Amino acid sequence: MTSTDPALAGRHALVTGASSGLGADFARELARRGAALTLVARREDRLRSLQGELAAAGTEAEVVALDLNDPAAPDRLLAGAEAGHRPVDVLVNNAGFGLYGPFSTLDWARERAMLELDMIVPVHLTKLFLPGMLERRAGWILNIASIGAYQPSPLYASYSAAKSFVLNFTEALSYELRGSGVTATALSPGIVATEFLQVSGQRATRYQRLAMMDSPAVARIGVEAMLKGRPSLVPGRLNAASVWSNRLLPRRVSAALAHRLMT
Ligand SMILES: NC(=O)c1ccc[n+]([C@@H]2O[C@H](COP(=O)([O-])OP(=O)(O)OC[C@H]3O[C@@H](n4cnc5c(N)ncnc54)[C@H](OP(=O)(O)O)[C@@H]3O)[C@@H](O)[C@H]2O)c1
Repeated sequence: MTSTDPALAGRHALVTGASSGLGADFARELARRGAALTLVARREDRLRSLQGELAAAGTEAEVVALDLNDPAAPDRLLAGAEAGHRPVDVLVNNAGFGLYGPFSTLDWARERAMLELDMIVPVHLTKLFLPGMLERRAGWILNIASIGAYQPSPLYASYSAAKSFVLNFTEALSYELRGSGVTATALSPGIVATEFLQVSGQRATRYQRLAMMDSPAVARIGVEAMLKGRPSLVPGRLNAASVWSNRLLPRRVSAALAHRLMT
């Protein structure tokens, strides 16, 4: 069902990692609210299939198949938007992955690629697209962090630290942007039913199966938080309660608890 949102109607949203999971659902949610899309990821067949689905519902979507770990990729995205005279009003920095396991056993090449994709790429894309938004005094940046950003998370040590970076970067940027017409929001989901666990190499624990949220619901909550200009949001009551209670715990206990829930 289409219910166009006056704030997003006629806007152009660029979503990274739109070939599966949350990214595809952010694209669907933004399209449902009237935005045109640029869909970015490596798997072109998946992007084309989403493009077809969106076209059938009346949304124009451009597909850009590229590897965001290529250092030239962010500049290519900006050049593409400029060449097509399609300024980006909504930037969703969603592409990312985690690596599960003891830090000492993780492959460095994969881990380095993860750290670049999860931290450098969103900062770089924000650096490139923010000036245009500021000039137009309108824009939204939605960065996907994780509940793991709020606590030390053994077995996701470097992934969760990268997401802490995203959370802190976004909240600080949000403050810098006050009064500019542009907002930055960090969305920090708990476990969501996507390809995340398969890619990270983890089998869902009992707790994760209990706490798992649906991707379309998380995407909707994320877009709503973005439109309200919230600096950050943890979707789901259980997740929000867990972040809140973590603040009261000594950090060593918090790490032990996260370890328990991940095994
Ligand atoms: N699912 C969860 O439980 C969960 C919880 C907290 C946070 N998150 C975060 O949510 C975001 C979305 O993840 P998801 O859960 O939707 O997982 P997903 O289903 O695995 O989706 C990840 C997306 O990132 C894209 N991607 C990965 N490497 C890329 C690269 N080098 N270049 C371009 N695109 C790349 C993938 O597309 P291609 O493979 O086609 O390139 C895919 O579209 C991530 O930032 C993740 O850390 C997820």
